Amino acid sequence: MTDKVVLAYSGGLDTSISISWIKENYKMDVIAALIDCGQPDDLEEAYQRALDTGACEAIIVDGKDDFIQDFIYPSIKSNMKYEKTYPLATALARPLIVKKLVEVARSKKAKAVAHGCTGKGNDQVRFDVGIRSLAPELKIIAPQREWNLSREDAIEYAEKNNIKITVTKKSPYSIDENFWGRSIECGVLEDPWNEPPEDIYKWTSIKKDCSESGYVEIDFEKGIPIALDGKKMTGLELISKLNSDAGAYGIGRIDMVENRLVGIKSREIYESPAAEVLIEAHRQLEALVLDRELVHYKYLIEEKIAELVYYGLWFTPLKDSLLAFIEESQKYVTGKIRIRYDHKSFKVVGRKSDYSLYDLKLATYDRTDQFDPKHSESFIKLFGYPYEILGRKGRINE
Ligand code: ARG
Repeated sequence: MTDKVVLAYSGGLDTSISISWIKENYKMDVIAALIDCGQPDDLEEAYQRALDTGACEAIIVDGKDDFIQDFIYPSIKSNMKYEKTYPLATALARPLIVKKLVEVARSKKAKAVAHGCTGKGNDQVRFDVGIRSLAPELKIIAPQREWNLSREDAIEYAEKNNIKITVTKKSPYSIDENFWGRSIECGVLEDPWNEPPEDIYKWTSIKKDCSESGYVEIDFEKGIPIALDGKKMTGLELISKLNSDAGAYGIGRIDMVENRLVGIKSREIYESPAAEVLIEAHRQLEALVLDRELVHYKYLIEEKIAELVYYGLWFTPLKDSLLAFIEESQKYVTGKIRIRYDHKSFKVVGRKSDYSLYDLKLATYDRTDQFDPKHSESFIKLFGYPYEILGRKGRINE
């Protein structure tokens, strides 16, 4: 019997040409697994393309709910952004895909799994390290890395082998999409000086008359967004609605140069309207309900978690431990945030919570003020002693 390999198939250029390459070079039967993380692609079409391109079997795996529960919610709770900027849509989906891929491989008794990552990106690390942690017995095949094709060669190979793909030589972007965000690379974007052409944007092309502001109120319960404008929704509905509503104002565009795990810098464009709005809303709610020391310490944990996710270290005891800290911090992150949408920007303009630690009687500057400034005097006296002593010894730089 021929050995089987389960390929993480997206329907795009790289994974489509991988099917014939694996068959040619490894003489294995290829099972194409389409893992649905909310990418807007036509999965039925991709399913058919996998079979037309030579897969012996194609399987659609619905990962949407797991993606929200196990990856997106923790990422909101930890205000997760790599290098303080990238909401990690691509990176977060990888461990989910790995998990599903391994499940399929085990149920089909496959000897190997394959992915279409190039040898230059972060995704190969996320796949390989994840697969080796969950299923050390599986062989890993990475046609793009082993073959090392240029983008032009890949397009030519596809044309020669009659593999239909949506990429052309004129717009050679590499795009990865799921409902937490859309990542765009390659082409003219490779020069960090080039302003991204308007036509690369799909989720944030402006569809609103932006001279009028829009508003939305988001309810959170224990760190999870549960309703928009008072209407309860599933995570999928809520994120999709925010993506389309905020996206219509051109909100959620990110243009950055980031530090890849493999050592190089790369220029990346992201569209992540819902992620941008939800993380900012969540952060502002935390500012209202968490005490100062927790907020400050949480920044450190958040940065480390984002780095672990970016580096492909999802299935690790450190990530589990740090997420347990995050989980504990969310007990009182319940309340309402009001957002104003404007042209390509948004702002939190209101916040309230039953767990608010904001005390008007202490914060106000009017006559109802109950803050006793006498206490400040003594407090500052003690707080400033170390520096007063240094000053007396002449050890302060001017
Ligand atoms: N640089 C991002 C990351 O490593 C996005 C990668 C996007 N992949 C793509 N095929 N466009 O997470």
